[in-house]
Amino acid sequence: MLGKYALPAFNTQDLEVTLGIIRAAEAQKAPIIVQTSVGALEYAGIEELAGIIKTEARKAKVPVALHQDHCKDFGLIKKLINQGYSSVMIDVSHLPFKENIKLTKQVVSYAHKRGVWVQAELGRILGNEDWQDVKSGEDLMTDPAQAAEFVRETRIDTLAVAVGSWHGIPINPKVKKILKTLKEHIDLDRLKQIRKAVKVPLVLHGASGVSDKQIRQAIRLGVVIFNIDTDLRVAFNQALIQNLKKHPQIYDPRKILGPATDALQKEAEKKIKLLKANKQARKFKSTR
Ligand code: G3H
Ligand code: ZN
Repeated sequence: MLGKYALPAFNTQDLEVTLGIIRAAEAQKAPIIVQTSVGALEYAGIEELAGIIKTEARKAKVPVALHQDHCKDFGLIKKLINQGYSSVMIDVSHLPFKENIKLTKQVVSYAHKRGVWVQAELGRILGNEDWQDVKSGEDLMTDPAQAAEFVRETRIDTLAVAVGSWHGIPINPKVKKILKTLKEHIDLDRLKQIRKAVKVPLVLHGASGVSDKQIRQAIRLGVVIFNIDTDLRVAFNQALIQNLKKHPQIYDPRKILGPATDALQKEAEKKIKLLKANKQARKFKSTR
């Protein structure tokens, strides 16, 4: 897989988005990761949202992994592991380096005893969606030498790197300008050095809005998972607005949300093909 294709990790917060994502994976015969943010769990409920995803994953004709995105709370991580999550992200990248290592190690030892993978983050990924609240200027790119020590000490399974991508779409025009430069300028040299320094798979967060060219370069440089949320949300939102403009009289939620779910599925299929994950499902043995 390394360098040839990558897996999309799509965020969900409800039934429609979960259906759109999984239908896209089935249409493209792609293995995927469906992930929840802490905000999504607060919105939908842990049992409710995990229940929807696990049910759809069980029925899906492709492998679907359930992952917890950006979580600072070890207690919540334990709950999610007991809910059947196959991997979790402990994100305490806001803490000093040694603190990040200490807490991450505790999560790894708990999770590994239960056969669950752990992702952690080194450096800060800019952006202010419900995953993070990192203000511009505070941005700390991942230091390759520190990454080697971090992975060795913590024994994590995947590393989220800060190399210039950005969470979400900023509303404020000033930040929009920074976004433009950041998304267009993934620091590929830094990525190359991190790849040389650590052996675990790398994860690129904030992959919405990163140019296709840079996504392909990042895959060649060893990024194995791309976290994508905003581009799917925008597709859903645009379709919903169009639908209601065209049919202001509809009031059946299925008719209101159906076209938006289809548009999200189309966007997810585009991303799957961009990552060359299409037709790769057969390489993954089903764990059902
Ligand atoms: O953890 C979530 C992702 O990093 C989402 O980032 O909305 O910019 O695609 P994105
Ligand atoms: Zn993220």
